[in-house]
Amino acid sequence: MESFRGPISSRCTENNTGSVRDAMKNYWLGYSQNANVAEMLCDSDGAEISKKELPEVLGFLPDMRGKKVLELAGGVGRFTGIIAQQACHVTTVDFMEPFIEESKKNNKNQTNIDYIIDDVNNLEFENESFDLIFSNWLLCYFCEDDLHKLLCRLLMWLKDCGFLFVRESCYESSGNMQVDTTNPSIYRFPECYNNYFQSTSVKSDDHTRWGFSLRFTRNIQSYIKFKGNRNQICWLVQKKRLSDETLDCDYEEFLRNKQNSKKDILRYEKIFGEGFTDIGGLQMLQEFTNKLHFRPEQKVLHVGCGIGGDDIYMAKVCFEIGDITDRQYPRDFFDVIIGGGAMRHVRNKKALMAHFFDWLKAGGSLVISDFCLGEDPTKLQARGSLKADDCKLYTSKEYSEIIEGAGFVEVKSEDRSKQMTAFLKRARMKITENLQEYLEDFSNDDLNTLVTRCNNEVKRYETKDQIWCLFSAQKPAPAYR
Ligand SMILES: C[S@@+](CC[C@H](N)C(=O)[O-])C[C@H]1O[C@@H](n2cnc3c(N)ncnc32)[C@H](O)[C@@H]1O
Repeated sequence: MESFRGPISSRCTENNTGSVRDAMKNYWLGYSQNANVAEMLCDSDGAEISKKELPEVLGFLPDMRGKKVLELAGGVGRFTGIIAQQACHVTTVDFMEPFIEESKKNNKNQTNIDYIIDDVNNLEFENESFDLIFSNWLLCYFCEDDLHKLLCRLLMWLKDCGFLFVRESCYESSGNMQVDTTNPSIYRFPECYNNYFQSTSVKSDDHTRWGFSLRFTRNIQSYIKFKGNRNQICWLVQKKRLSDETLDCDYEEFLRNKQNSKKDILRYEKIFGEGFTDIGGLQMLQEFTNKLHFRPEQKVLHVGCGIGGDDIYMAKVCFEIGDITDRQYPRDFFDVIIGGGAMRHVRNKKALMAHFFDWLKAGGSLVISDFCLGEDPTKLQARGSLKADDCKLYTSKEYSEIIEGAGFVEVKSEDRSKQMTAFLKRARMKITENLQEYLEDFSNDDLNTLVTRCNNEVKRYETKDQIWCLFSAQKPAPAYR
């Protein structure tokens, strides 16, 4: 499958990297005559959009106090000065001299900025020089070969646990301006960047292997609101030490594995219903929506949204890929938090409940569906059979106490095991009744594994080793506190 849109000339091979670089530079020569924001964003509404998106993009960055930041392709410096107000030092680089000169004027009050006029491809820094590397629209001007090399160098320049923020136009151009030159930019699919981040690794002199770990990826909301453009995507990734088990595989192999997991998702969707890859599907969603009485202006965080059947059903959606246990949202931000199937994989539930409490507005609602140990503590079979994720299982009472311990009130738990058993039996019946049809998509082994999984779960519910619980709770409204 194609992974980007862009002119054939941009698809670099070992032999044409130089000409791709020239094409990109020529393009920017055409767009840097006036050195203003509209021109730099290649959009006549650039100044207006910039005002709207600046706070949003800056809000995605980690705490920069006392940190050293490298800004790639800083342009006229609309981010540079603001970052410099928080960080201890900023190095900003751009290959267009007029942009850097304008940036110097715009940020003349900041004395902690180094300006470099150069192609990012030519940069050299000591290893572990920066805490954060900020790149807002650069990678689409890099051909594949250069991009791979750049990501390796960025990994080396980052300190241990340092962050890389990247924002890119995916699928298509974001601007409405057209100068004479043809646009050589490469509008990749977001998966392509995901794959690059996940498959890049380097070895430092002490033979430690480093890679990127994804903190989150999502689209920029101000572009959706202002331009109806959902294709402005950003990523926050963090430098991490790779263990021997996570040694990188070759890029092609990595992509093949990805394709396979996509196939799995599509196959499970066939059993659980369009948009759903887990038991319960649309019916479970209706349970949630009935409980929560959504209103159009509400902000909902759905943890573990899967392939998003629920969310498309609910509202305007911003999908985010990330690890909820690492994510930081603003305090008092969401009206509702829903914890679905993914909750079972969260090891430190106490810490997550504390975050949920922080992120919810006063009076906001929490709904979680998760499985728990049966009330009889002597029946510990479930603990053994659910060990795969190494998660501690709780009884519904213990689980409720954890929710309460985080500060929630009106904590209720409902045993929904019967309902879950019915879902499981229905899925099992669907498979046996449509065996021939499913065998076109699944192997016999796959189907057997699925049926065995259903049988085992049903058994655990029937013996009450395990129960399926629906928890609901409120963050106290102001009068309560
Ligand atoms: C769309 S502008 C974004 C500027 C800035 N990051 C912002 O968001 O305000 C893209 C910038 O990338 C710079 N650029 C593109 N390729 C570059 C390269 N190889 N080295 C340095 N700068 C580059 C251009 O000169 C331009 O300033």
